[in-house]
Amino acid sequence: MERPYTPLRIERGTGIVVLDQTCLPHEERYLEMRTVEAVGEAIRELRVRGAPLLGLCGAAGLAVAAEDRGVSDEALRTAMDELDATRPTAVDLGAALRRALTLALDAPEEQRRDLLWDHAETVARERLDEDERLAEMGAPLIQPRWSVLTHCNTGALATGGRGTALAVIARAWEQGRIERCYATETRPLLQGARLTTWELQKLGIPATLLPDAAAASLIASRHVQAVITGADRIAANGDTANKVGTYGLALAAARHGIPFYIAAPMTTVDRACRGGDGIPIEFRRESEVGGFGETRWAPAGVDAYNPAFDVTPATLITGIITERGIAEHPYETGIAALG
Ligand code: MRU
Repeated sequence: MERPYTPLRIERGTGIVVLDQTCLPHEERYLEMRTVEAVGEAIRELRVRGAPLLGLCGAAGLAVAAEDRGVSDEALRTAMDELDATRPTAVDLGAALRRALTLALDAPEEQRRDLLWDHAETVARERLDEDERLAEMGAPLIQPRWSVLTHCNTGALATGGRGTALAVIARAWEQGRIERCYATETRPLLQGARLTTWELQKLGIPATLLPDAAAASLIASRHVQAVITGADRIAANGDTANKVGTYGLALAAARHGIPFYIAAPMTTVDRACRGGDGIPIEFRRESEVGGFGETRWAPAGVDAYNPAFDVTPATLITGIITERGIAEHPYETGIAALG
């Protein structure tokens, strides 16, 4: 399938090219990155974002580090630590960095550059393949003529493949099941308003944008029959961290008796993390709440509570859609059964 845009392109032996998601939807600006600092800045500032894409960026980022700083154990370890420290919640980033580092350190130095680029290219192919399978698994859960609500951005922009929750929605659309996709704006960085609506338009799926604050009343109104979101880290018991506001959507879905699904690749499952309490939550700066870009609307000096993610307890999740199948309650065994 021809892809009209790609959030991260690997330029073997040189660096990576990233679609700057902070400029969307008004400008498709591509940035070439050849240093660890540039990759780290792009992750911190959400030029690249979305848990699975952060995994790909981590793997490719270590290949960039090999070109930028050399292939000694120390150079690679330091680069890994720097990139790992950029965003703490998405498990894919740290896991992908560790996987790439282990691979490199197990090889003689003269082979490390090639191995790291090979590995980054493998991860890029895995993303495409796993997303396709995940979409295929999840689409049948959507009943014909359903409208669904989604949160944040989980399309190709967030994975480098086809997406997670948005890929399920797109596959269900292709199968004639979806009537409409409602997308929350996703305060404060507006991934829903800026990115999801852009992707829905490109996919040709009827889309409606709503303020986050309108989600509960939308669910109560019966205009949507399911909520489906992505994940940044899924604990072994099924508790799931995703973009802040997801927990509220799950509560509203439960209150009004509609299913709430999580869609994520198995790389987003953190088996070492037993429950939601163990998931590190990223808190971001006040300026992202008190304004947007150059515009400020809050008075200078105001304090802000700005967690980037929240944790939805497993009890509120109807099913977890992965490329290997759909995990159900109880998730300890449901997830383990997927291998
Ligand atoms: O802060 P972001 O934009 O990286 O947050 C992204 C999300 O919360 C997504 O829902 C999640 O990473 C899944 S992406 C397929």
